[in-house]
Amino acid sequence: MSNFDELKREALLAIQGAESVVRLRDVEVKYLGRSGRLTEVLRGLKDVPENERKEKGKEANALREVLEREIAKCQSQLQDADHERKLAAEKIDITRPGKKHHKGSLHPLTVIRRDIEQIFGTMGFTVAEGPEVETEFYNFDALNIPADHPARDMWDTFWIKGKKLKTEGKKLLLRTHTSPVQVRYMQTHTPPFRIIAPGRVFRYEATDASHEIQFYQLEGLMVGRDISLAHFKQVMQTFLGTLFGKDMNVRLRPSYFPFVEPGAEVDMSCVQCGGRGCSVCKQTGWVEIAGAGMVHPHVFASAGLNPKDWQGFAFGFGIDRVAMMKYKIPDIRMFYQNDVRFLKQF
Ligand code: PHE
Repeated sequence: MSNFDELKREALLAIQGAESVVRLRDVEVKYLGRSGRLTEVLRGLKDVPENERKEKGKEANALREVLEREIAKCQSQLQDADHERKLAAEKIDITRPGKKHHKGSLHPLTVIRRDIEQIFGTMGFTVAEGPEVETEFYNFDALNIPADHPARDMWDTFWIKGKKLKTEGKKLLLRTHTSPVQVRYMQTHTPPFRIIAPGRVFRYEATDASHEIQFYQLEGLMVGRDISLAHFKQVMQTFLGTLFGKDMNVRLRPSYFPFVEPGAEVDMSCVQCGGRGCSVCKQTGWVEIAGAGMVHPHVFASAGLNPKDWQGFAFGFGIDRVAMMKYKIPDIRMFYQNDVRFLKQF
């Protein structure tokens, strides 16, 4: 009798003292396992005298049931506790401030090109494009710059070796300006129209703070029955005024480009000093910004338009240069070095 009580007391104590599921399993093995304490007792029953055997057997089985029930109860408690602990450890504090992710930003030249397209868009200009690998015909001949004419030297050219276009028998090159888009557009469209053509151009020349072998230009072309340089001046003034957010004056100085007649250099008020004179504008109050002029009759002709029917203006400027003035960037090469510290400011 006292044997069972002792065993029961000991086993229950061990069960309650188990502080993990693994320890509890040890206890179970110790008492109820194949050679566990209670199992031994049950096995020993065969040696117990007949008259006591039944009674002892009952008691032993009752004890086993108690222990089994107790172990099951303890196990589910320990499992619950485990679960609670895990939940607490994995808890997410949704009130904590988030981690910052580094976002990319648009390249300054993209930002300004979009701004420029938007401004010209409000004046009815649509965007046209042409290839960066051009033919000699579109880059020069069609623009009234014949072979061997000294005017070709105005553009230092990257020629593409060995390649000739069968259809035109002309060499290929990297376009030195966006003006070829004028011809391509006029070949495929009937005036009146107004377009801008932004794009990459290439010059075979030494680089410095204001020269790159690759940069961006924006071509403009407006053709109709009676389009004049007066229209051009107004378009330019509106464009610059909107882009720089202040009144801008524009002046034209006579100049020469083979594909326009008359041709002009376009100056705008110095953004730095507003025209009073400073080191940026060399005390003149003016900064050169674009080339422009009235489309040359030969250009109309090479695009298949009758110069007697149509007239218009064309202009071209460097997008990089405009961006440098707007954002006060001292060196054009910064646009192409991809230094994140520079780029992320835009
Ligand atoms: N294409 C000229 C250049 O690259 C600029 C220009 C365009 C001049 C249109 C006149 C008219 O220098």
